[in-house]
Amino acid sequence: MMKNLILLIIVSLYTIMFANGSLITDLGQVFMPINRKIPGGSPISTCDVQNDQILTMKYLHISPNPPERGANLTITASGILEEDVEEGAYVELEVHLGLIKLLSLTLDLCELLEDNKLSVSCPLEAARYKIEKVVEIPKQVPPGVYTVQARAYTEDGDEIVCLSGKTSFPPVVRRWKSIIRQIFTFQWW
Ligand SMILES: *[C@@H]1O[C@H](CO)[C@@H](O)[C@H](O)[C@H]1NC(C)=O
Repeated sequence: MMKNLILLIIVSLYTIMFANGSLITDLGQVFMPINRKIPGGSPISTCDVQNDQILTMKYLHISPNPPERGANLTITASGILEEDVEEGAYVELEVHLGLIKLLSLTLDLCELLEDNKLSVSCPLEAARYKIEKVVEIPKQVPPGVYTVQARAYTEDGDEIVCLSGKTSFPPVVRRWKSIIRQIFTFQWW
């Protein structure tokens, strides 16, 4: 159970990087506020654009696009941070699979940066940042349409950035045995 949850969190965080904008439907707009595309061809958008945000995303690129199960995904991103960000910053993460709310979590931003071994760490100084990260998409990501929204805030509650996106993983053609195993593994969904 715990292992599945951790896997889901990891998948969710990266799913937000590769949501497909062309899939955004009326339904998606119910979950998403006003969005703005980020240059680079990735399907991720900045959301809450009506609010002041400390981080301006300048570029976001993923390869392959769309991402594939069991393959390495390379993420390249750059952005300008207008103010320093200290320990205590946090991320509110929400994930839907179809209409079902899977997750609603608050995570420590500085711990996230560290746990993912990104080249940046807290405290973050106001500057232009560029990061590249390779992640392996698990083979066992269940099929479906995922809607992910992440809002990051400073320790004082000022909005750092809002990112949202949508992606889908197609059904996998499998032998019956592994389908049954998958149903039992993910029954809590
Ligand atoms: C992904 O990259 C890692 C590290 O470079 C490598 O060990 C692994 O085999 C790669 N996985 C795939 C599916 O290419």
